Amino acid sequence: MGLRPSKVAGQSPHMVLGLESSCDETAAAVVLRHPDGRGEILSNVVRSQIDEHRLYGGVVPELAARAHVAHMDHIVRRALGEAGVRLADLDGIAATAGPGLIGGVLVGLTTGKALAVASGKAFVAINHLEAHALTARLTDGASFPYLMLLVSGGHTQFVLVEGLGAYRKLGGTIDDALGEAFDKVAKMLGLGYPGGPEVERAALSGDATRFQFPKPLMGEDRLDFSFSGLKTAVRLAAERVSPLGEQDIADISASFQATVAGILARRTGQALQTLEVANKVLVVAGGVAANKVIGAALREATAAAGAQLIVPPPALCTDNGVMVAWAGLERLTAGHMDGLDFPARARWPLDDAAMAVHHG
Ligand code: KG4
Ligand code: ZN
Repeated sequence: MGLRPSKVAGQSPHMVLGLESSCDETAAAVVLRHPDGRGEILSNVVRSQIDEHRLYGGVVPELAARAHVAHMDHIVRRALGEAGVRLADLDGIAATAGPGLIGGVLVGLTTGKALAVASGKAFVAINHLEAHALTARLTDGASFPYLMLLVSGGHTQFVLVEGLGAYRKLGGTIDDALGEAFDKVAKMLGLGYPGGPEVERAALSGDATRFQFPKPLMGEDRLDFSFSGLKTAVRLAAERVSPLGEQDIADISASFQATVAGILARRTGQALQTLEVANKVLVVAGGVAANKVIGAALREATAAAGAQLIVPPPALCTDNGVMVAWAGLERLTAGHMDGLDFPARARWPLDDAAMAVHHG
């Protein structure tokens, strides 16, 4: 099936096409990995489905799957075209196999397998969370181990990245993802979608001290988050001052954002404390990482812990094909590849992805 570890251990650079379709971005990219481990992005094509989902204030799985079907082919063609390469030039094809919306995951995964069969190239199935986790190695040459804080529309968790395939989830949200909370708060305030950037913009002219919102779980030592009670508190505050004027919206946005920034900073400090290494590094990933107030709070928390903070450029923090191609390169150069029977997984905790490299 063309899945032999042929020239993967050689001294030439390797090139992989990465496909991503687990949420609302249809993405493909070609990335090169030089023998010294350095990565080079040859193309990065992302088609966001924000317009398809805006009307509903959130991602509609069925619409997402259809849009991936409609656009994956030409996105792949563009990624190859912009990189100036043909399928035959690649060493492998990597595709996100989960976790995510299963209808969408299937589109990229099936496309990746079909391209691998047609070209006789190696196929690598990628865990979306692993792709986020390894991006800092491409952008900043981060070396293991490091702590990752993933804050996106679908995930909010701390992961200890000990090595390729060696991940340990230290804690995460027990209800909403943080991006989801931003989106819901935006909706309550009559702001647009996606909510994160809208809340951040509204907060610029707001008074962050006007509302005192709760910080759920903060009294406990665990590295978990809960945003559902906070969300309810925001809704109650909005109802209390209704009808909402522009200043009310700004003040609620600023108070919510400051509360969240405080929660993340506190937990980050705690998480860094548990690391037993001399050079502590925190890598932030996910769409929420674009938030400047949150970024500043995390910078402060990492500095206080004597740690280094790595925030990859926003385009590589949100969903993209580059991170999938890069994870594929890391796995391929470690001699790992997957069979064409690899299943799409709606749920796929990172701790399980760990198994794949060692026993796959
Ligand atoms: O990583 P991402 O692009 O997609 C996935 O969920 O995988 O993250 C999107 C999420 C959305 O919920 C969006 O509202 C949030 O990230 N987001 C932000 C900001 N920009 C995007 N949240 C807070 N502040 C921002 N500036
Ligand atoms: Zn993501």
